[in-house]
Amino acid sequence: MKEELNKVVKVAENEINNASSIYDLMQLKSRYTGKKSVLNSFMQKIGSLSKEERPAFGQTLNIAKKQLVKMITDQEKKIKELDYNKILKSESIDLTMSGRKRAKGSLHPITKVWREIEDIFMAMGFEVAEGPDVEDEFHNFDALNTPQNHPARDLSDTFYLDNDVLLRTQTSTVQIRTMENHPLPIKIISPGSCYRNENDASHSPMFHQVEALLVDEGVTFTDLRDILNIFVKEMFGSKIESRIRPHYFPFTEPSAEIDIVCVKCYGKGCNLCKGSGWLEMGGAGMVDPNVLEKLGIDSEKYTGYAFGLGMDRIAMLKYKIPDMRLLFENDIRFLKQFS
Ligand code: PHE
Repeated sequence: MKEELNKVVKVAENEINNASSIYDLMQLKSRYTGKKSVLNSFMQKIGSLSKEERPAFGQTLNIAKKQLVKMITDQEKKIKELDYNKILKSESIDLTMSGRKRAKGSLHPITKVWREIEDIFMAMGFEVAEGPDVEDEFHNFDALNTPQNHPARDLSDTFYLDNDVLLRTQTSTVQIRTMENHPLPIKIISPGSCYRNENDASHSPMFHQVEALLVDEGVTFTDLRDILNIFVKEMFGSKIESRIRPHYFPFTEPSAEIDIVCVKCYGKGCNLCKGSGWLEMGGAGMVDPNVLEKLGIDSEKYTGYAFGLGMDRIAMLKYKIPDMRLLFENDIRFLKQFS
């Protein structure tokens, strides 16, 4: 019987030492030392031994039980230590590892150009004025001398929200709002969004203009010419000349269109300027005396110039953006390039 017991202890030892989880170990514990355990079955067999043999075997049995219990507690410690090490390892921090970079946001190219334009004009004494995007016909058309049958008023060009309510098609509305409220002389720029019913690679239904208005005594066309030259060189560099061409706007007389030398080919002619060597930037002119008079400004005493430039166009030229729609699609891969 003693031999049998030794065998059992041997097997148990092997099993206990191989137990890799606390659960397995607890199963073994109950199998070998619990109430219905193998050791207990030996206990019951003591009765079949002779009186002399009983105490010795009882002792052996006790020792065996103690051994098994010790083996189990030892193994339990071992398993727990292993688990703990595993956790430590999985949660440990490698201080030598380089950190993960946080993506930094960047300004939108139009915001950049917007701010740069404000800086350039503010340095020359212009104030920044604002006007609403939602306008009435008076400020967008009537006060700007636009005849009732002018095609720009058409539903196919202008977004109307209601009868007399529309999304402004130009920042020239701010000319009117400023002349209504601002004491003379006036020297403002007004950057902002405009809306027209058009959509292609060089037109977006929402776009941006910057308006400029200067009204004072003795303002001439030469002053307009000067300010445009200065601005263009500040914005695009000293190599870039500007020119004006006769044009028509209802609210300026004379009126002109502003071109700059092509920023890609410097005037030689390329695909960007369609061979002409020049790129369109906006419109300009001397404020029509009619406009001044309608707003109660003495056109004998005061003259003024105004111009409006496409800010998206400026951003496209400055950053060589081929399609205007890229500016408004909010594709992170595109925007990332401006950080
Ligand atoms: N508002 C005109 C346009 O959108 C541009 C312009 C502004 C022309 C100021 C003359 C003076 O086309």
